[in-house]
Amino acid sequence: MFFSQEDLQIRETKDGSHSLWIPKLQESYHSLHGAVTESQHVFIEQGIHYLHDTDDGAEIRILEVGFGTGLNALLTCLFSQERKIRIKYTTLEPNPLSWGLASKLNYPDSLAHPQSHFWYKELHIIEWGQIEWLNPYFSILKCNETIQEHSAHEPYHICFFDAFAPGKQPDIWEIKVLEMVKHMLEDRGILVSYCAQGKFKRDLKTLGFTVESLAGPPGKKEMTRALLEPSDHLSLNGPEPDDPEL
Ligand SMILES: C[S@@+](CC[C@H](N)C(=O)[O-])C[C@H]1O[C@@H](n2cnc3c(N)ncnc32)[C@H](O)[C@@H]1O
Repeated sequence: MFFSQEDLQIRETKDGSHSLWIPKLQESYHSLHGAVTESQHVFIEQGIHYLHDTDDGAEIRILEVGFGTGLNALLTCLFSQERKIRIKYTTLEPNPLSWGLASKLNYPDSLAHPQSHFWYKELHIIEWGQIEWLNPYFSILKCNETIQEHSAHEPYHICFFDAFAPGKQPDIWEIKVLEMVKHMLEDRGILVSYCAQGKFKRDLKTLGFTVESLAGPPGKKEMTRALLEPSDHLSLNGPEPDDPEL
């Protein structure tokens, strides 16, 4: 990547929870208006909570683009345990943070759950590339790779698209990457992102998603949720044999 871990600075955000600031990029891992508040709103409330309300399937498979500090993973783990919902969480990270740095972040204290310290540490220290069950409801597979390198073994119900902002890392927001994500999703799969950029939403529409602009977390007017209608995308198995393109 274009920065090293030594460059990262811990910042307290407006809700008291930490984030990491990258001076070279002038970019942070979360909203400075509230890291936990943002993750809870965008990914938990408008993502998993919404999906669970509209589809009571036996398990939810999530793909996260950018494990980063592990905050989204920790919030999802707590959600699964509280709601007794089985979640399989796959997360991608080409630039893992050391536990030395991650352990200085105050998420377990901010969340005040009896298990949050234990699970937060587990999320960071478990092996890359191996499925680990943190409790009967939550498993995680951490992949030390980019979204461009990832291939899904099972289609996902939700993608947490949590990359650095388009102005800071434009390649990851290209339509060809969004198309790859689309082909990794289930029918009626959803993609959620804090990003509400016009081009991002237009590209999702071009790919056949139904795009919703929802109220954003504090400090942000809008966020995006995109729903994949059935029959509008090819499955993981690729095109049907009678596809005229073949
Ligand atoms: C905004 S931060 C993610 C914050 C994270 N979800 C959290 O809860 O702390 C973006 C993350 O995406 C990672 N990243 C950068 N390029 C990537 C790529 N091509 N594919 C997947 N992740 C990438 C970065 O290293 C960084 O950790």
